[in-house]
Amino acid sequence: MALTGMLLSIFLFAILYNVFSRKIDVPTCVPYTGTFKKPHIRKVDIQNYEVYAVAHMWAYDPDEITIPKGSTIALYLTSADVVHGYNIVLKGVNLMAVPGGVSKTIITFNDPGVYRVVCHEYCGAGHQYMMGKIIVTDKR
Ligand code: CUA
Repeated sequence: MALTGMLLSIFLFAILYNVFSRKIDVPTCVPYTGTFKKPHIRKVDIQNYEVYAVAHMWAYDPDEITIPKGSTIALYLTSADVVHGYNIVLKGVNLMAVPGGVSKTIITFNDPGVYRVVCHEYCGAGHQYMMGKIIVTDKR
């Protein structure tokens, strides 16, 4: 019991430390409203974007997102079939795409480059081919 309590305290501390001290967003789940039957990217203003992404066997829609550096993406993610993952390599972003649910997180891209997105939840025969990319351009 004492060991369990100690481990729980360490996990809780690690989460709170990352959220408040390192300003890392903990992914949230928002209710599924069916608001994005059609995946799309919405430009809110010059540096804010909303991405409504759908994962399905074995691709993402949209599979390529291009934004200027310094942009912030509010990513809303769901799945059309089975559970998939959405791992933005080099950004430490790991989301699950769950059918009937929406995962949300907010990510800022300050450095230009190509950020690969890979599926990190085994989702069937084409799992290893499931990827996308986020292209951050040099101009603002
Ligand atoms: Cu989708 Cu693995």
